[in-house]
Amino acid sequence: MKTVELRDATLNVIDVGSGPVLLLVHGFPLDHTMWQAQIDSLCDTFRVVAPDLRGFGTSTGATQTMTMAQFADDMNELLDALDIKEQITFCGLSMGGYVAWQFWKRHANRLARLILCDTRAISDTEEGARGRITMAQRVLDEGSSIMAEAMLPKLFAESSTNEHKAIIEATRRVIVTTAPVSVAGALRGMAQRPDMTSELPNIDVPTLVICGEHDAISTVGEMRAIAEHLPNARFVELADSGHMSPLESPHAFNSAIREFLV
Ligand code: MLT
Repeated sequence: MKTVELRDATLNVIDVGSGPVLLLVHGFPLDHTMWQAQIDSLCDTFRVVAPDLRGFGTSTGATQTMTMAQFADDMNELLDALDIKEQITFCGLSMGGYVAWQFWKRHANRLARLILCDTRAISDTEEGARGRITMAQRVLDEGSSIMAEAMLPKLFAESSTNEHKAIIEATRRVIVTTAPVSVAGALRGMAQRPDMTSELPNIDVPTLVICGEHDAISTVGEMRAIAEHLPNARFVELADSGHMSPLESPHAFNSAIREFLV
């Protein structure tokens, strides 16, 4: 793992393989380890760059509110620090997808392709945003384990819940060991993320939209509609998967990426 100094944070990042750059940006409140099956497999063809976002994993720099734009700017700075000048494929899951939208808005010149996994284009409803703010305070008061209890039942398909106890336990460990200040900061940032729906027709980079069949957070219907509104997108649904499709169906997920990129 490399350590990369940004202006106001230190990011830990996996940087392996050579070839076209594939940047993997994790979901909330996780870290790069959710991409282990992609890192291990895809580094035979790609230079795989998988950071821990600021405040997550072993990266520092959490702030009170961490916006999706701030994370996107961090990714831009990270690419500079790694001396990556070529256009990249930005692959983001869920919150990583929210960051991908902002990366497109702010750093489109760096993008060759997008891969949007189990994510949403809409912003939070007022009620949803209020719920996040309340949750942020609860996490600060009570610790990150309440976030794990709230999220884990929504992350995995029922078949995974039964079959993949180890990956669920590993995911729980990542959530409970994430600093409350980071969980709270990202909750506040997600609560104020902009709605991207009206922008979709303008996002004309080749895009792959991937969704787990049983995703309870960003549903197949919602993600198919995103793909339909993007001018240059293909949609792939992964059977027997929930929100964490790269972990639940790694082979099918990696094949979809290879077909799209190679
Ligand atoms: C994620 O997986 O990153 C979260 O479900 C995103 C969210 O809470 O909206």
